[in-house]
Parts: sequence; structure tokens; C-alpha cells
Amino acid sequence: EDVAGQAYFDRVIAEDSRIEPRDWMPAAYRKTLTRQVSQHAHSEIIGMQPEANWITRAPSLKRKAILMAKVQDEAGHGLYLYSAAETLGTPRDVLNQQLLDGKAKYSSIFNYPARTWADMGAIGWLVDGAAIANQVPLCRASYGPYGRAMVRICKEESFHQRQGFEILLELSNGTPAQKQMAQDAVNRFYAPALMMFGPPDDDSPNSKQSMAWNIKRFSNDELRQRFVGMIAEQVKVLGLTLPDPELHYDEAAGRWIHKDLDWQEFKDVISGKGPCNAQRMARRREAHENGTWVREAARAYAQKQAAKRAA
Ligand code: ACO
Repeated sequence: EDVAGQAYFDRVIAEDSRIEPRDWMPAAYRKTLTRQVSQHAHSEIIGMQPEANWITRAPSLKRKAILMAKVQDEAGHGLYLYSAAETLGTPRDVLNQQLLDGKAKYSSIFNYPARTWADMGAIGWLVDGAAIANQVPLCRASYGPYGRAMVRICKEESFHQRQGFEILLELSNGTPAQKQMAQDAVNRFYAPALMMFGPPDDDSPNSKQSMAWNIKRFSNDELRQRFVGMIAEQVKVLGLTLPDPELHYDEAAGRWIHKDLDWQEFKDVISGKGPCNAQRMARRREAHENGTWVREAARAYAQKQAAKRAA
């Protein structure tokens, strides 16, 4: 036990200041951050799949270019976050192996299928919208590299959300069939997007400690509340509805009331039994195998450079 280290850490947290990679930190703080940041990175990488499937089917060259840029941004976010996670001491190939072995989680949302072009709109508006609501407070996370990575990621996510909103707006103002397609996408993504914030507070084992450490700034339910309030207004501009007749603001309680979510479905999805888990993991493993030659070439190059330096 490092008494001076612990005192320094406690002071930094009490001052709402930042812990940096070389600072002393409790083993549990390191562990929970490695878990959260690596899961976040895995989510960005797996999250490329539902949208990548639609690049070839985007309805115009412009839409294709926008979608490609968006999917590339997600790859960038993943790389950023793996770098932030590595500063905590676990190498990236170890983190990646945890994902490939099915030991590390990634966001539940990416285990749902993207069936129509309108789903690109719903994913941008709802999924990236939920991601922003969750991630803006993470810009103030006590661990420096994570908080700083979040700043750029949130800026890009804002663009993603707007492009999704705009896809839905255009479809909603299109033919009746297009409007129906937009409504159907919103219907399917609404509840899974609300589940992205994680289990209810009384069933969230990590929240209390993560909030005490200034990693999380708001609880899962608080952020879900905030998000549902935002989309309740935005959906009116879209001329669509949310599949939640119970949704309303309770003035007396000062909070949004939404329908009960199916937490059994959530548990199934995060334990590998969602509609697309097997497909997503198979694709990720395949992509990893296809990249073997790149890793081998990089290794050979590094060895050659090291030998040159030694000579
Ligand atoms: N999908 C998959 N797993 C989840 C989800 C979810 N939507 N929500 C919670 N979990 C997992 C947690 O990772 C935790 O698992 P573990 O302890 O076995 O590792 C378990 O369920 C219990 O949940 P909590 O105690 O509430 O966990 P935590 O305090 O980590 O809160 C949260 C979960 C809010 C997702 C937090 O980790 C977080 O803010 N992460 C960063 C954001 C992120 O990962 N976003 C990815 C999706 S958005 C995108 O990338 C486009």
C-alpha cells in the first residue's frame, strides 16, 4: 500500500483535477478504467459493422461519401480509445484478444440489425445521440487521456447525429412509403437506444464507485432521462412519433417517465444472445485474420530498424 500515493490520488479527486498515466492510482481505479475504456473502444470498432453494410447501398454518391466518412470516424475513435486504454498498462493486443475471446463486452446496441436505409438515419439520430448524451460528461472524466480523447470524439459524434437526423427528416418528408420506413426504423431503435445507458441505477454495480472517482458524472438513469427528454422534442420536428405512449414529463417529480424497458432482453444481448452477436464477432475475427499480414510486415520492419540501430 502506498500511503503517499493514495493521499495524492485522493487530493486530486477531491479537487476535481486529473490523474495522468504516470501518477499513482489505486489498482481498482486502473482496472475499472481499463474495462470501461477498452469496452468503449471495442464498441466503436464493432459499431462500424451495421453501417458499413449500407455503404454500397447508399442512395446517392453524396450519401455514400458521408456514410464512408462516418464509418471511418468510428475506426478513428476506436484507435484513439485503445491508445488511451494502453496508457493504463494493458497492451492493445491483449485488449483485442479479450474481445476476440468473447471475454470483453461491447455496446449492446450493435447487436441489432440495420435492415433498411432509414436505419442509417435512426442509428445516427438515436444511437449517436445517446452516445453523445453519455459521452459529453465523460470529457470531464478524472483520467486525463480518456477525458481528452472524448473531446474530439464528441465533436465528431455531433456531426454523426445531425446526418442521421437529416436522413430521417428527408424520408419523413418523402413519399408515404419513405415516411413509413423512417417511422419503422425509429420504432425498432428506440428501446435499444435507451438501453445503451446501461442497467437501472439500482442494478448498476459499477456506478457508485465510478461516480466517487469522477469517472462517471451522472448515473445511468439520469443520462437516460436527459436523452429521452431531448428526443421527445426532436421527434416532433421530424414529424414522426416515438413508440412510447407513456412518455411524458412529470412536473411534480421533475423527471421524464418512459415505458419500462425489457431488461431481460438487455441481459441476453450483453451475454452474447442478441440477434447479431454471432455475426458481429465472426466478422471481427475474420477482419483480424485478414490483417495478419499487416501485423507481420510491421513486426518485420520494426526488427529491421532495431537491427540497423544496433549495428
Ligand atoms: N452494452 C453492453 N454492456 C453494458 C451496457 C451496454 N449498453 N451497459 C452496461 N453494460 C455492462 C457494463 O459494462 C458492466 O459490465 P462489466 O462490469 O461486466 O464489465 C455491466 O453491464 C454493469 O453495468 P454498470 O455497472 O452500469 O457499468 P458502467 O458503470 O461501466 O456503466 C456505461 C456502463 C454507462 C456504458 C459506461 O461503461 C460508459 O459510459 N461507457 C463509455 C461509453 C461507451 O462505452 N459507449 C459505447 C457505445 S456508444 C458508441 O461507441 C457509438
